[in-house]
Amino acid sequence: MSGRMKGKVVVVTGGASGIGLASAEACAAEGAVVVITDVNAALGDAESKRMVAAGLAVEFRHHDVTSEADWRRVVDDVVQRHGHLDVVVNNAGIAVIAPVEQETLEGWRRTQAVNMEGVFLGTREAIRAMKARGGSIVNISSIEGLVGDPLIPAYNASKGGVRLFTKSAALECAQRGYGIRVNSVHPGYVGTPLVANAIGALPAEQAAVLQQDLLGRIPLGRLAEPREVAQCVLFLASDESSYVTGAELVVDGGYTAR
Ligand SMILES: NC(=O)c1ccc[n+]([C@@H]2O[C@H](COP(=O)([O-])OP(=O)(O)OC[C@H]3O[C@@H](n4cnc5c(N)ncnc54)[C@H](O)[C@@H]3O)[C@@H](O)[C@H]2O)c1
Repeated sequence: MSGRMKGKVVVVTGGASGIGLASAEACAAEGAVVVITDVNAALGDAESKRMVAAGLAVEFRHHDVTSEADWRRVVDDVVQRHGHLDVVVNNAGIAVIAPVEQETLEGWRRTQAVNMEGVFLGTREAIRAMKARGGSIVNISSIEGLVGDPLIPAYNASKGGVRLFTKSAALECAQRGYGIRVNSVHPGYVGTPLVANAIGALPAEQAAVLQQDLLGRIPLGRLAEPREVAQCVLFLASDESSYVTGAELVVDGGYTAR
C-alpha cells in the first residue's frame, strides 16, 4: 500500500458490514485513522478488533445515524481525540422490499430516516467539523437512485434524494470556499447482507426467480464484491479526486449502461 490516506481521519457509518466495512478497511490500509460507526455494536466491535490485530488504525463507536445527538457525540469525540476530521462516508442504509401498494407509512418513514435523513445529518455535521481545513464527504446512493425498481419504491426515493442532496451540498461547499468536496457513489448489486436479507425475506420460489433475473440484467454477469465499491470510495476520499465534486460515481457492472 502507498499511504494515499496518511494523516487523514475518516468516519464510516454502517462500517460493521458490507460496503462500509470494506471502505473502512481500504482507507485504513492506505494509512488513515478510521472510526467505524454502526448500530450493530457486537459486529462493529469485533470487526474493529480484527482490523486492529491486522495492524490497522481502526476504532468503533456505537451510532444511530438517525439520531442528531448521536452525530454530535461521534463527531465531537473524533475531533477531540484526533484533532481533526477529514472524510465522512455516509454509508449506513437499509433496504426493504415493499411495492407502493403494500408499503406502510411507518416503513416508508423508516427508510427515509436511515437512508436520507442520516445522510443529511452526517453531511451537515461533517461540514461543520471540516469547513476550517477542507475534506471529502462520500454519500453512498445506489443505481436505485438513478433508475426505478417496482419492488423498492421507498428505497428508490431515498437514494434518488441522496443523489440530488449531494449535488446541492457540493455546490454550497464550493460557493462558500470550504474546500470540502461532496460526491455520491452508485453501486449496482453487491454481495452483502443487505441484498441477501431483502431477497431472503421473499417466498423461496419468488426469491430464486428474482436472483436469476437480477444476474441476467447485469452485463458483467455477477454481483460486485464490497471491495470493488470500496476502491471507488477510497478514490473519492483521497486527494487523488481533488477536482471531483458534485459527481456521481456509478459502479454497477454496466447495469445502467443500457
Ligand atoms: N448491497 C448492495 O447491493 C448495495 C447497492 C447499492 C447501494 N448500497 C448501499 O450501500 C450501503 C451499505 O449497504 P451494504 O450492502 O453494505 O449493507 P449491510 O447491511 O452489509 O451494511 C449496512 C450497515 O448499516 C448499519 N445500519 C443500519 N441502520 C443503521 C443506522 N440507523 N445507524 C447506523 N448504522 C446502521 C447496519 O447495522 C449494517 O452494519 C447502504 O447505504 C446501501 O443502501 C448497497
